Amino acid sequence: MTSGGDSAGMNPAVKCAVDYSRSKGLKPYVVYDGLRGLIDDLIEEAVPSIVSGILHRGGTMLGSSRSKRFFELQYREIAYQNLQKRGINKLIVIGGDGSFGALNQFYNDFGVPFAGIPATIDNDIPGTDYCLGVDTALNMIRSSIDSIRDTAHSFSRAFVIETMGRHCGYLAMVSALATGAEICLVPEMDYDLEAIGERLRKERENGRRYFLAIVAEGTNMGEYMTRWFSDTLDMDTRLTILGHVQRGGSPTVHDRIMAYKFAVAAVDSLLEGQTNNIMVYQDGSFARKPIHEVTDGKHQVDPDIVKLCRPLCH
Ligand code: F6P
Repeated sequence: MTSGGDSAGMNPAVKCAVDYSRSKGLKPYVVYDGLRGLIDDLIEEAVPSIVSGILHRGGTMLGSSRSKRFFELQYREIAYQNLQKRGINKLIVIGGDGSFGALNQFYNDFGVPFAGIPATIDNDIPGTDYCLGVDTALNMIRSSIDSIRDTAHSFSRAFVIETMGRHCGYLAMVSALATGAEICLVPEMDYDLEAIGERLRKERENGRRYFLAIVAEGTNMGEYMTRWFSDTLDMDTRLTILGHVQRGGSPTVHDRIMAYKFAVAAVDSLLEGQTNNIMVYQDGSFARKPIHEVTDGKHQVDPDIVKLCRPLCH
């Protein structure tokens, strides 16, 4: 099942989990619409035709949801009955830490083991350096900002570009570096608008025509920065909120391969009798972590990335 915010890479992960578990002699099922589908019995045997032709598609072909009902025991009981009647005794959930927490509650209630695969464009799940969908989202952002740069240059304008990420500035930081933006504002870093103003003023004196500022949605600074450019640098300025375009698109090669590796790790983890582990990718290799290390942990953006971005907020 896929759950929570969708991300590219979910489809190849589903396909690989189904194909690999069949190769191991298991009988896989798919759950449609995430936690909601567990309750509403949207469950079907994963015959090969269900997962054929999906791996290049963005989003999740299984559908997803953020179900409030699953947090009530009476609905989890219904979900358990739906699994019981089909003899389903293990779950793989592809999603974020909220979905992992929900499945862990389900495990505590009914003892149904699960394996979690981290998937969110925000890349903010504690304990893993990578979540499925991030590379695809970054490429969508990079391509959009490259296009904005063309028109920014033509009109000598400043552009403020807001990226997603909820409370995490990872997408903004990596995109700012990859596109050569002049400013990057994220929740993780203090910024000094006076110093930035000084820096950009000098650049303009030296002939700079246009500026790009990347702001993470978690800073809530998009509109403020747009006014700031007009007021401080007297520049014609536009705000572009990239929005959900960042969540779609065909998964990149990297996301497809990562999806396969995460999916194989999840099936193997369940076959080895692990009960509530999350698959993680850390320091260049795959590992498993007990759920509490993920849900109790605090996510931190790679300090090297933070360091590289520091000059963009001063
Ligand atoms: O968690 C993924 C994410 O895209 C965040 O970056 C964003 O804040 C949020 O989901 C948007 O949620 P929704 O799709 O419900 O508007």
